[in-house]
Amino acid sequence: MQDQINQYTAEIEAFNPANADELEAFRIKYLGTKGIIKDLFEQFKSVSAEEKRVLGKVLNQFKQSAEAKYQELKEQFESGAQQSTADIDLTLPGTGLEVGSRHPLSLVQSEIVDIFKRLGFVVAEGPEIEDDWHNFSALNFPDEHPARDMQDTFFIKKNNGKDDIALRTHTSSVQVRMMENGKPPFRAIMPGRVYRNEAISARAHCFFHQIEGLYVDENVSFADLKQTLYHFVQELYGEGTKVRFRPSYFPFTEPSAEMDISCTICKGAGCNMCKYSGWVEILGCGMVDPNVLENCGIDSKKYTGFAFGMGVERIANLKYVIRDLRLFSENDVRFLKQFKTEMI
Ligand code: DAH
Repeated sequence: MQDQINQYTAEIEAFNPANADELEAFRIKYLGTKGIIKDLFEQFKSVSAEEKRVLGKVLNQFKQSAEAKYQELKEQFESGAQQSTADIDLTLPGTGLEVGSRHPLSLVQSEIVDIFKRLGFVVAEGPEIEDDWHNFSALNFPDEHPARDMQDTFFIKKNNGKDDIALRTHTSSVQVRMMENGKPPFRAIMPGRVYRNEAISARAHCFFHQIEGLYVDENVSFADLKQTLYHFVQELYGEGTKVRFRPSYFPFTEPSAEMDISCTICKGAGCNMCKYSGWVEILGCGMVDPNVLENCGIDSKKYTGFAFGMGVERIANLKYVIRDLRLFSENDVRFLKQFKTEMI
């Protein structure tokens, strides 16, 4: 047995595989479950006790050196050190690193936020899991308002038998948090993800993104609201983009309006995007309802304010003409790659 081991040891030392297949064959031959080492250990069981003392040590050493040799060669193959330099064409161009790209929603969001930052707005954020107070009650939603229905809102937890904790349905909740925790003046822009209990389709999703705006101070008027949003649209879509305000209703603003802009795709001539009207709606807005100010501990006799809220997906649609909302969250690289040129 000793002779056999000596012979195998010499073989192992001389072993110099040309490729990974040969190394694998080596592993199977010596270290495999039916390999030589296993076999030697079987034979070892039947030698005399005296021989065992000497052979045991020799056998263990042999096993260790076979394992070490295999490990060493394996690492060499993995690090490519075994590749013959003759196979490498040093004149070939290298493989470049793929440059990542920013998500279209994140591009649009930072563009919008930057415009408002230049007007002196600060960026504020709030939690995505909200309570009824911040998402609805403080914003003047009557108890029986349909927006509180299970249909629209993902409620998570009840309190005293009433639905209370929910995934926020809009970023207007951040207004409340901001006003509760500070003193006027407030001038903030609040981007974030919101959730609604909707079936996912090309035109609706159970989560999307909004940007909320809030401006509260003494003597803030509807004229300030119009001027600010007009300026925003000129910056985002270019000088000459027309705006119009239509009366609307939101529980948390009075008066309320929806703002349309002249269609960015057909410039007002009429197309599929604007349903041939020449106008597209981009946001909701209004003067902060005095009830909301009071709910947040702000003197509504002294202060007035305006607020607005827009969907980021909608704005991105008008910029990039993305007809299926699902593309924004599917992470298909072929879609995402197209925004590569607009880095940072
Ligand atoms: N929260 C509204 C929504 O989700 C959007 C909105 C409308 C926000 C008017 C406002 C506002 O701040 O004044 O549809």
